[in-house]
Amino acid sequence: MSYYVTTPIYYVNAEPHLGHAYSTIGADILARHMRQRGEDVFFLTGTDEHGEPVARAAEAQNTTPQELADRNAERFKQLMPLIDVSHDFFIRTSDPRHKQEVARVMQRVFDNGYVYEGLYEGMYCPRCADFKSEHEIAEGNTCPVHKIELEKQSEESWFFKLSAFQEQLEQLFAERKDWILPRHRYNEALSFIKGGLHDVALSRAKLTWGVPLPWAPDQVMYVWFDALLNYISALTFAREGENLHDRYWPADVHVMAKDIIKFHAVYWPALLLAAEEELPKRMFVHGYLLMGGEKMSKSLGNVLDPLRVIELFGSDALRFYCYREVSFGQDGAVSTEGFETRYNTELANEYGNLASRTLAMISRYRGGVVPEEPDETGLEAEFGGAADDLAARMDALELTAGLDDVWALVRRLNRHVEERAPWKLAKDEAKSEELDATLYGLAEGLRVVSILLHPFIPQSTTKLLTALGCADHAGSLEAAEFGGREGAGAGGRTIGELPQLFPKLESDGD
Ligand code: MSP
Repeated sequence: MSYYVTTPIYYVNAEPHLGHAYSTIGADILARHMRQRGEDVFFLTGTDEHGEPVARAAEAQNTTPQELADRNAERFKQLMPLIDVSHDFFIRTSDPRHKQEVARVMQRVFDNGYVYEGLYEGMYCPRCADFKSEHEIAEGNTCPVHKIELEKQSEESWFFKLSAFQEQLEQLFAERKDWILPRHRYNEALSFIKGGLHDVALSRAKLTWGVPLPWAPDQVMYVWFDALLNYISALTFAREGENLHDRYWPADVHVMAKDIIKFHAVYWPALLLAAEEELPKRMFVHGYLLMGGEKMSKSLGNVLDPLRVIELFGSDALRFYCYREVSFGQDGAVSTEGFETRYNTELANEYGNLASRTLAMISRYRGGVVPEEPDETGLEAEFGGAADDLAARMDALELTAGLDDVWALVRRLNRHVEERAPWKLAKDEAKSEELDATLYGLAEGLRVVSILLHPFIPQSTTKLLTALGCADHAGSLEAAEFGGREGAGAGGRTIGELPQLFPKLESDGD
């Protein structure tokens, strides 16, 4: 089966920060997990390059929008391998092939009669590239997101008949209660719709940096419609000479944060209906990573630089921290202190140290060969069905809960070492079988959790699976059966060198 997952495409007028990394890592975890299940995955990310914010930023830097976009898109592209994101394609909306596809779809919207000409007047936030409706305007006529003053603007525009979709959208929400997850976001979108849909401006007359309207090329398309269409356009040119549309559309899940829910939950389905395209199957709206209580963003200057974190601790640590600390779907505070604590106690100690101790004992007591599977290890009950449980969590997009479940198994293994005390068993020849069973249980448990954790922390799990002699298991969720499928567990394998997975942090003395 196909599985198509997307991230928002990021504005190129800012540098990538942890918030962008967070969404992209979430989509990556889903993509990697689905690949482990043998699905035909397509994972899309990219950059949103048109619109006023980019045009303004370019002007301020004395450059052209295209040059600015080229430079900054590169930064987002470079971020991806650094955070181990395994996207199948990176779309840039200034790509002529995207523009061509946008024009084709919009022409259909026009031909179907969902577009008209009129005068637009309203309060506009240049950073959001959006006109604000009355209830969205914060105190002092400011943007609630960017806290900057809104500008009164009026211009000749083309309009999209959003209001024509009032009933259809209400019906959609009534029929598909899991269309937007989590539920409180679904409710939020539904109440926006119930409040009454108004037509929206589809074009900007004063701007030249964008996709010209096919029927009125003197105007460029409002950046949000151009941007949303990336999810469809990418499929037409991601693979040379191939159109992937029918293979992957409709998307299985669009991942995003709550700031852009209106566009995805209201404008996007209406636009797709107007263009006679199928609707995406689901959207997942996560919360904000917060530092000091404010949404982290470049403009507020409270950025935990992902590149710096990776330099110091590695990409796995960043990926793990974000998804363990902040429940996917909720807002959550992140801090350097919290990061260090989780790194030391969980990654370095509970996983890394457990792995190195286990392998060291197998070397010392059993010549580096994992004992064969015994009748009973004492771990079967908890480890049985873990892969199915994780799959169910991932299907419900409960990434943090899924990770927590697997981490409970990591902790179970830590308790197992303490309870069985293999170093004591090793002193007593009569306990040899028990020692075998214990060492097997630990190695097998580590093998299973490493496969399950692989989508979250791909680098360290690959190292450990390689040291356990099962590098190829990383790609298959089926392999995560305790005891191994058809005897393909850890038993009888010769273990290899394990590099230190998460070196302990040196305290810097303050
Ligand atoms: N270009 C539009 C999206 C178009 S999608 C068709 C846009 N770009 S953005 O660069 O502002 O990115 C917004 C997205 O970045 C959020 O929806 C979220 O996915 C991610 N995040 C940005 N800051 C974030 C946090 N502080 N916390 C969590 N996610 C954050 O909007």
